[in-house]
Amino acid sequence: MEIRPENPSDYAAIDRITRAAFAPMPFSEGTEAECIEKLRRDGDLTLSLVAIKDAALAGHIAFSPVLINESFDGWYGLGPVSVSPRSQRTGIGTALINEGLARLRQMDAQGCALIGDPAYYSRFGFVGDGRLSYRNLPGRNVQWLAFNDTQPSGVLRYSPGLE
Ligand SMILES: CC(C)(COP(=O)(O)OP(=O)(O)OC[C@H]1O[C@@H](n2cnc3c(N)ncnc32)[C@H](O)[C@@H]1OP(=O)(O)O)[C@@H](O)C(=O)NCCC(=O)NCCS
Repeated sequence: MEIRPENPSDYAAIDRITRAAFAPMPFSEGTEAECIEKLRRDGDLTLSLVAIKDAALAGHIAFSPVLINESFDGWYGLGPVSVSPRSQRTGIGTALINEGLARLRQMDAQGCALIGDPAYYSRFGFVGDGRLSYRNLPGRNVQWLAFNDTQPSGVLRYSPGLE
């Protein structure tokens, strides 16, 4: 499997895979593919990686800048992340997340935040301890991973494409 940054010839397949991955998810409003397009249009798609398996696009992950208490301090939001339904649970999501986090560290990012299920993201070191808040979501779902010894605190806000 190869993981590399997106290029324009990937856009249609990213759209397709994102829709297919989120369609069965009860929490999804079906807007994830449009969110990625909007982030891209707005110049907020800091990192957009694709996983290529057997010459086909099998997964995608996006990272975009986030604000904490209305201030950008080198923190990025993870998501959406999607793996094509027929390729799920084969390690592609894990590989995309690990590669994305490694690339953020190389960019001297301070850390990464996300909204998600702790059962999945805790394995990467994310914690949901209430230090970050997002709308009225439970603190355990608003998770963060610092790349140094700072700890974030406050209200999380995504780029407009994801809000
Ligand atoms: C979530 C997703 C990106 C994970 O990618 P993946 O390639 O299937 O995951 P991996 O093979 O790397 O990891 C599989 C592990 O993740 C767990 N897992 C997958 N999705 C999970 C979820 N939503 N919640 C909890 N655990 C999950 C599996 O149980 C498995 O754990 P195990 O190894 O202990 O059995 C993928 O399942 C997907 O596209 N889901 C639909 C879209 C989505 O929900 N995106 C995330 C929104 S926050």
